[in-house]
Amino acid sequence: MIKFASVKSNTIPLMIIYSRNRRLRTNAAIRALVQETILTTNDFVMPIFVMEGENKQEAIASMPGIYRRSLDLTVKECKELFSLGVKAVNLYMKVSENLKDNRGTESWNKNGLMQNTIKAIKDAVPEMIIMPDVALDPYSIYGHDGIITNGKVDNDATNDALVKMSVSHAEAGADIVAPSDMMDGRVAAIRTGLEESGFTDVGIVSYAAKYASSFYGPFRSALDSAPVDNQEIPKDKKTYQMDFHNSREAIDEVLKDVAEGADIIMIKPGMPYLDIVAKVRDVIDLPIAVYNVSGEYAMLKAAAQNGWLDNDKAIIESLTCIKRAGADMIFTYAAKEAAILLNG
Ligand code: PBG
Repeated sequence: MIKFASVKSNTIPLMIIYSRNRRLRTNAAIRALVQETILTTNDFVMPIFVMEGENKQEAIASMPGIYRRSLDLTVKECKELFSLGVKAVNLYMKVSENLKDNRGTESWNKNGLMQNTIKAIKDAVPEMIIMPDVALDPYSIYGHDGIITNGKVDNDATNDALVKMSVSHAEAGADIVAPSDMMDGRVAAIRTGLEESGFTDVGIVSYAAKYASSFYGPFRSALDSAPVDNQEIPKDKKTYQMDFHNSREAIDEVLKDVAEGADIIMIKPGMPYLDIVAKVRDVIDLPIAVYNVSGEYAMLKAAAQNGWLDNDKAIIESLTCIKRAGADMIFTYAAKEAAILLNG
């Protein structure tokens, strides 16, 4: 690389002397002309928290602007999101304590809250893409994504449960199931289960590279789904979610999920993990989803509330940068706010 200051002018090639990157930054019109990444409402998936009851809405303290809502208000919110151009939702249930067990049996109840929510949204907003979360943690007395056998998260027993859960979501009308659990082999198991039940058109967005991250804190308090404090069971999710020190392993995880039949690959969290997004973008052609998780949202909101960041600009910048790194779609709690900003 030639450094201008250290080279005598008569030795600098003309091309370098007259090349000025600032020319294409002169005004807004030129900057718009050369923009490489364009963020639109088509890029967003909005995560939604649902709870039992009617006409109920509870604020989540660590996620300003985000609520748990009863089904009726959830449907209303989905109509509003769709009219703003947000055409995909990712669903999470706040499960009553009395419905939790080790095997997460409530998760495949045909008349469960999730299944009823999927049906109600499909009825009210038929074009909305519905992506229900597939994992046992909100249904587990232990707060783990899998079934506990002899003090360990039991991979293959969990996969059987995830298949039942996915098929019940498909029966209710889900478009794309979203396994967020990180069990080995679950994409193949779910794909097979869906095919055998006739749901050939129901897709899978696989959380392929999901890291054991401290950035999920606000989400776990929203659903009351954190691993419980119990000597007999693992205290965290490190035996299934990835170690944040690793990146080559993410490629291995992703390629396996592609081979198992995933339609879309997810990387999670988002902002601190954009190196992983860029690396995965280089090796796969399937669509990549990035999850801009609850802790990222909480950080931005906390700083904005203190007047330390410009909320609107920081939202648009961070989502655009996630897309620039290689995301085709972004799961983000800021989807509605960003849509309003983009719609002007
Ligand atoms: C659980 C699940 C988590 C998130 C989505 N699905 C939390 C976890 O793995 O403990 C996190 C989402 C967020 O933090 O926004 N299967």
